[in-house]
Amino acid sequence: MKLLLSKAVTLLCAASALAKSRRGPRVQSVILPRATQNNGLQDIVTWDEYSLMINGKRLMVFSGEVHPYRNPVQSLHLDIFQKIKAMGFNAVSFYVYWGIHEPKRGEISFEGFRDLQPFFDAAKKAGIYLIARPGPYINAETSGGGFPGWGTYTPGLWRTSNTTYMEAIEGYIKTVGAKIAENEITKGGPVILVQAENEYSGVQEPYTEDFEYHKQLLQLFRDSGLTVPTITNDAWPGGHFTSVDIYGYDSYPNGFDCSNPYVWKSDAVPEWFWGAHQGINPEDLHAVYEFQGGAFDGWGGSGYAPCAVLTGPEFERVFYKNQYAMSTTLFNIYMIFGGTNWGGIAHPGGYTSYDYGSVIAEDRTLREKYYELKLQANFLAVSPAYLTSRPQNIYDTQGSFTGNSALKTTQVLDVVGNKTGFYVVRQTDASTNALQTYTLQLPTSIGTLSIPTIGGSLALNGKDSKIHVVDYAAGSTTVLYTTAEILTCLKIPPPVAKVLSGTGTIQQKSLASNSLALQYKTTGQTVVQVGSTVLYILDRVNAYQFWVLHPPTSGPFAHYSTENPIIVKGGYLLRSVSIRGSTLSIQGDLNNTATFEIIAPAASSKSVIFNGNALALSKTAHGTLAAKRAAKLPAIKLPNLSSLTWKYADSLPEIRPGYSDAKWTAADHNSTVNPTTPSTPVVLYAGDYGYHTGNIIWRAHFNATGSESAFTANVRGGTAFGYSVWLDSTFIGSWAGDAVHSSYESTFKFPLLLKEGSGHVLTILQDHMGYEGDWWAASDSFKEPRGIHSYSFVGDKVPTVNVWKVTGNLGGESHVDRTRGPLNEGGLYGERQGWHLPGFNDARWAVGKPTTGISSAGVGFYRTTFNLNMPKGVDYPLSLVVSNSTTNPLYRSQLYVNGYQFGKYVNHIGPQTVFPVPQGILNYNGLNTLAVSIWAEGSTGAKLHSLALQLTSKVESSISAIVNQPLTAWAPRPGAY
Ligand code: GAL
Repeated sequence: MKLLLSKAVTLLCAASALAKSRRGPRVQSVILPRATQNNGLQDIVTWDEYSLMINGKRLMVFSGEVHPYRNPVQSLHLDIFQKIKAMGFNAVSFYVYWGIHEPKRGEISFEGFRDLQPFFDAAKKAGIYLIARPGPYINAETSGGGFPGWGTYTPGLWRTSNTTYMEAIEGYIKTVGAKIAENEITKGGPVILVQAENEYSGVQEPYTEDFEYHKQLLQLFRDSGLTVPTITNDAWPGGHFTSVDIYGYDSYPNGFDCSNPYVWKSDAVPEWFWGAHQGINPEDLHAVYEFQGGAFDGWGGSGYAPCAVLTGPEFERVFYKNQYAMSTTLFNIYMIFGGTNWGGIAHPGGYTSYDYGSVIAEDRTLREKYYELKLQANFLAVSPAYLTSRPQNIYDTQGSFTGNSALKTTQVLDVVGNKTGFYVVRQTDASTNALQTYTLQLPTSIGTLSIPTIGGSLALNGKDSKIHVVDYAAGSTTVLYTTAEILTCLKIPPPVAKVLSGTGTIQQKSLASNSLALQYKTTGQTVVQVGSTVLYILDRVNAYQFWVLHPPTSGPFAHYSTENPIIVKGGYLLRSVSIRGSTLSIQGDLNNTATFEIIAPAASSKSVIFNGNALALSKTAHGTLAAKRAAKLPAIKLPNLSSLTWKYADSLPEIRPGYSDAKWTAADHNSTVNPTTPSTPVVLYAGDYGYHTGNIIWRAHFNATGSESAFTANVRGGTAFGYSVWLDSTFIGSWAGDAVHSSYESTFKFPLLLKEGSGHVLTILQDHMGYEGDWWAASDSFKEPRGIHSYSFVGDKVPTVNVWKVTGNLGGESHVDRTRGPLNEGGLYGERQGWHLPGFNDARWAVGKPTTGISSAGVGFYRTTFNLNMPKGVDYPLSLVVSNSTTNPLYRSQLYVNGYQFGKYVNHIGPQTVFPVPQGILNYNGLNTLAVSIWAEGSTGAKLHSLALQLTSKVESSISAIVNQPLTAWAPRPGAY
């Protein structure tokens, strides 16, 4: 039986298990044109020019990028992995951030949230393969692009084979390499690939690509015990670092301008990637290690909501399908879950949120684009023909097969199997919103057909793309062609002999060779049975509601099974299924009443349990199981933060008379290896003294000449930084910062003439927005200093600074808080003392609220506590929400939850005002400590306009138990100053 289908959006087909499957034998009879490759070190992960294989089985690697360090709650990794898995994906790619593992040279730590083992274990539990990307360079919008702060004073050009650099990376690569190696698939773990470097692509004159670096880095990987294939992600298909096992590239075709989310470039759908791949590594599969899944946003930016529009369902349909048109069989979406730049993770171009507009939002809720991607992943998961396909007419797509030059159609043929064809149709001008109608002239096994065969035409909206299949095997049936897109196929006995349900009109016509054409106009869901095949014809809204889940098998890789799919319609998220005897258990999340339809073998679904409770089952008109289930969403009461008792203390004692900075670090270096030459008598780069994050404070002691009238300084802090200056106890001004400047020179007038010979101190409080990235290969750009580049006094006779002192976080590289890591706290007095931590005794502090604030320039610290008593069985993400202050707008604030810095707010720059704080950082069943710092940069002080705790979503959830991260309490800090 051959089926021809026209006119609908999505198709889900079920074919008889009794009928002889055509797919099994076909794959086995494949004769590959060339030998399968492995790297000689293992034979579990192999590949050829078509696809990757695991244990000899081809797979489409559908992967999403997740950064473990951007989610410090280890027990939440499983939630993210399950959501990715439920989307039909089978892999996750992750960076490791060297800078947080080796904050002090030679002291490598995987303590606390930095431990990678829970991440590996959760991936395995969810049935997700991992692609490890340990750097050493990662970019990733992290401070220093992943490099440790001490790199800024390490001589030698970085990202080259320079000995000083190679010595610097050796300890880290060997340690992290060994950890990844222990979790390779060869040892029963989830890791299948490992990436060397990151976008080692752009090289500036006079440097050239450093092949010796490639060699030595790959050797370090191997020395650490890694055996899985090595990969690299060229920034574009440019043929760099091809000495890895499987070369691939990155692509961000829609760019990063989230403020214009509807503006697409007309030629943004690249077809030359295929030719480039063929020119560079035709012997390997077509691998894309990063493909745009969102966009990052910076200080003063648009916020992430429009980034999710820029890269929304339309983008996914057009740009991802264009990659499928080029037979991409390893496809990693960057990011799939962005997470949070908590603490000092962010580079200067980013703020606390790294939501990225990705399919899983920062608060772990699912965006519409999640459901669109689920359709694509499920389709390719049941399309083995795609895994041995080649595009046929890549440079001749315009007007092909349609005769309509406003459309491009790529013919992607299975060149090894039975000549299944995938025809990817899209707009020639990617940016157009115009609808095009078309007919297709497609070669099929019964000759060329003009489609639709029963007359009429097809339509494609602007910013849309469709994949039509030809000679596509679906169980016992061959779909001769379909202009509907396929969601999934499975083999189960049709539930009833012949039933139609749903609305719409269906026309039929018998064609040659036992073929039947169906043409239909339907809405919603229509179920049709033809012979032994049941078709679900779905519009997009209905298609989004389907989940394809696989019961676990046994053994160590039980959760990686792709056999015996169970299809369930309904629910916000269905995570997993399992079968015991005749009972089917479904674990899922609901945000309202779900109407389930369950397509499962009758013998194993006599009863169905959802989240532990039996469902009351009935039968649909076409014989599948149906059930309704209301979401259990208990009401909760959240504390009103503004009515709590808050305590206040001044956090800038440095400007008080008599303050002693004796314990501070003397800034007395006469030279630096930093490539930026200072214009000061002593080096005033905070990094040279071991301070790499958060606020930095400088103190300049001088004796007055009596004629100085002002002080000028050029301070560098990174985009959106600011600084404030005090002469003794008197505020003399700020550069409050904007979204443009990363350094700024300003002159601050003295309020009066100083007495000749009298001693004075200038106190300069500056923000450190993170180190720059080091994107260019052979580059030192991350060494761009943070601190004072030049300074001078104004006057006839100018004084000399006798002593410069500096502080950042207590302990510098020997940071005090091992739980929260090296980037969490900065150099404010309150941070050095640990005031942000739970359990600090503030009994002697005054009463004062951050919404009352301070009335002059300076720094205030506020603390309060509150209890939460959240119900079980739900996922209720919370955010701290502030609102913009328009009076006294110039201020910077940090929000600490149980000691973790989960918000850096710059009121006059923005844009972020909603700061998600995950459960596990917030204690959902017990006491919480909230601390807030306010640095008023204006002379009239500052306050938070409002501060609230808000729910961002309510979901009944089968999420695994969330264990709080250690919320370690304050303890005396010996030597704190
Ligand atoms: C890529 C890079 C990633 C990330 C991305 C933009 O070029 O490899 O690390 O920076 O751009 O978000």
